[in-house]
Amino acid sequence: MQTIVRLADYRPSDYLIDRVELDVRLHPTETRVTATLALRPNPAGEAGAPLVLDGDELTLLAVALDGQPTGPGAIEVTPRALTLHQPPQRPFVLEIETQVNPSANTKLMGLYRSNGVYCTQCEADGFRRITYFLDRPDVMAVYTTRIEADRDEAPVLLGNGNPVEQGEAGPGRHYAIWHDPHPKPAYLFAVVGGRLGRVGSRFTTMEGREVEIAVYVEPGKEGRANFALDAVARSMAWDERTFGRAYDLDVFNVVAVSDFNMGAMENKGLNIFNDKYVLASPDTATDADYANIEAIIAHEYFHNWSGNRVTCRDWFQLCLKEGLTVFRDQEFSSDERSRPVHRIAEVRTLRARQFPEDAGPLAHPVRPQAYREINNFYTATVYEKGAEIVRMLRTLLGPEVFRRGMDRYFSTCDGTAATVEDFLAAFAAESGRDLDAFARWYAQAGTPTVAVAGAYDAGRRTYTLSFRQSLPVIATEAAAAAEPRPLVIPVALGLVAPGGGPAAGRSERVSDGVFVLEAPEDSLVFTDVEAAPVPSLFRGFSAPVKVDHALTRDERLTLLAHDGDAFNRWQAAQSLAMEVLVARATAGAPLAAEAGPEGDALGRALATFLDGEALADPAFAALVLTLPGEQEVAQAIGADVDPDAIWRARQTLRVQLGRNLGARLLGLRDALAQPPGAPFSPDAASAGRRALRNAALDLVAAADPEGGTALAVAQLEDAVTMTDRLAALAPLSLVPGEAREAALARFGETYRDEPLVLDKWFALQAMIPEAGTLERVRGLMRHPAFSLGNPNRVRSLVASFSLNNPTQFHRPDGAGYDLTAEVVLALDGKNPQVAARLLTAFNTWRMVEDGRRQRAAEALRRVAGTPGLSPDVSDIAGRSLA
Ligand code: ARG
Ligand code: ZN
Repeated sequence: MQTIVRLADYRPSDYLIDRVELDVRLHPTETRVTATLALRPNPAGEAGAPLVLDGDELTLLAVALDGQPTGPGAIEVTPRALTLHQPPQRPFVLEIETQVNPSANTKLMGLYRSNGVYCTQCEADGFRRITYFLDRPDVMAVYTTRIEADRDEAPVLLGNGNPVEQGEAGPGRHYAIWHDPHPKPAYLFAVVGGRLGRVGSRFTTMEGREVEIAVYVEPGKEGRANFALDAVARSMAWDERTFGRAYDLDVFNVVAVSDFNMGAMENKGLNIFNDKYVLASPDTATDADYANIEAIIAHEYFHNWSGNRVTCRDWFQLCLKEGLTVFRDQEFSSDERSRPVHRIAEVRTLRARQFPEDAGPLAHPVRPQAYREINNFYTATVYEKGAEIVRMLRTLLGPEVFRRGMDRYFSTCDGTAATVEDFLAAFAAESGRDLDAFARWYAQAGTPTVAVAGAYDAGRRTYTLSFRQSLPVIATEAAAAAEPRPLVIPVALGLVAPGGGPAAGRSERVSDGVFVLEAPEDSLVFTDVEAAPVPSLFRGFSAPVKVDHALTRDERLTLLAHDGDAFNRWQAAQSLAMEVLVARATAGAPLAAEAGPEGDALGRALATFLDGEALADPAFAALVLTLPGEQEVAQAIGADVDPDAIWRARQTLRVQLGRNLGARLLGLRDALAQPPGAPFSPDAASAGRRALRNAALDLVAAADPEGGTALAVAQLEDAVTMTDRLAALAPLSLVPGEAREAALARFGETYRDEPLVLDKWFALQAMIPEAGTLERVRGLMRHPAFSLGNPNRVRSLVASFSLNNPTQFHRPDGAGYDLTAEVVLALDGKNPQVAARLLTAFNTWRMVEDGRRQRAAEALRRVAGTPGLSPDVSDIAGRSLA
């Protein structure tokens, strides 16, 4: 097992690299790389220490020190390192020639080939798979890269920074030279070579720099790159407007590749993307795809400041760039789309992915204290909870001080490899506040619970809110086992009068609508309150906590109808639904129990809501109509979970709501129908109308499978967007029978040459909550379009089953666990990162009822006990069982 790396053990590198000249001669199996490194001893390091360069799966061809071949015994080469025993204690130059095989690189880290295109992925530690290097983010160098290739095979040659020159390089060969003037860590290095189509535009920065923007895609798919291209320009303009940050090179290139481990990568001036997050056309991409593309384009672009200009000192600081950049991309999407709707989407993701992570065996602080395999820490906690911390900081300090803090952070840390402490110091300096207690958010794992109770005193006309925070004690390898200390929790709140409208009442401790809970327990007294109000707490989800607040059904209905905060109106509907779901799931209600007064009450409230405002904000209405997901219900139940009971509870409520609201929902569908021939727009308003129509279809089809099937079949026929087509196929996929099989077969046939569309088709089938799904998934793994080598295919088919089909992954007979374990093991030899990610499906294994728990543990132990596991998989298996 990989050795453990601890934050507490950080020390600066003994040597620094100021300049790197790389000569990369691309070849499918024998790519040669000559690296010329200008090194010097680091004054902050240990004088005279050996120089240990990282390496991984490299063939070393030659080494020279200051132009001379190194003598016998001067260097030592092991599979993972090249050591120079007595480096000069003055600046020196090391020239290293290595050879790699991009075609054999199935890990998709370092230099590899995707669909015949050469590309690289170096974060977190892939650069050492290209050449020997000090592969750590606090070693920053200026890079000049010469790329050479067969002109036929790779007419397009791209590198970091600005293009310098290009020309012939012998028969059939050509080269390009790129220079990046900004010092950067090796993880931001990239090259691309291939036959690629291009779309381009220009952007003039606020500093007057003319930037050439281009998006490169598979030839023939240029038309699908325009939305991404436009998103780049919008991102550039937004970062100038919102944070005063301008782009700093003459070109900005985005390349889409079809084999990619993650979403995308912010290499300096040369972002490389999973093509799923670039390619879009109405016929092949859903509204959700458009929104994701825009968000991820923005995310990678924003990294140019939060990540590249200011990078991370070490990988423990990953949230410094990722949490901050997620916050920035969330703000971008909120500004470009609808703020409340986007906020709800963010919170749904957090609750569906981060809360379970924080509650399971893989829990870790936003800044972990130890890791074995850093690639396993690109998690919802680091990204999403990391973004919530930045958001809380803004809530605590207010938008102006926050902005000044950001300016100070960027200017004081520009060109450096920084830490979370550096980040917080900028805000402490601007605000004059001590942020030491706030910093605990970075160190303590687990989701806090805030219990709240309200009491009205009619005689005194006061209303008292009492708060108590409780913090889970988490002792995992990645977290210090210390007793948790109280957190600084911003509670955005307001009082709603029983009949609607804001209630009177004041408290000195609430400023700008925010109360800060710092002590384990505290209470807040409002004076001059005329009647018992309904408190609206954690408006806009002002802190990533669970709220334990016993409101009556009527109080929740008041919030749903009248709260001035849209997020909490949605939350009120979710809470009402959640109470029904938890009650039904834990009472073991049979499938036929589609009645019940609480369900009807929810139905009536939703009816009033829909009548009043569905058409005014369809996107919001669609979210209000969408019930909490199965995993969220499982989290709410917490222990001894029976996934089948949860599914049944959710199903009965869908049926009940569909019956109660049926006529209205059909009316809304008609009112929102796109007039024939109207032009497609991916904008938020149009997407919102589609979302509400399709949310209505979902409930109608649940209540009336026959009528719903007819409706879905008709929608499938008429649909002009992938959104509507897929939304029709989804309810069809839930009704066993011929109509389903025919529709699925036809869809598969229609899109057989569109891998990204087939991914949706794979995913839909993998998520069918029926016992037959396991065999269906096995069958689809033999589909000609499926390949274990392509991460998107694995994610759409297998990960959809393991992570998004709770009833079938958690089959009582354990077959879902076995399938997952089997694929993890089959994949591990090829692509350990994707295998490890799939294995995180077992994250919830301790929560399920005993029979399933035993079977899950057996499957996990089988994985853990397999000889020759990758460090990635062995790390996840080990921590999951610990
Ligand atoms: N920095 C990239 C992003 O968030 C993620 C790259 C992670 N890659 C990896 N192999 N761990 O935008
Ligand atoms: Zn990122």
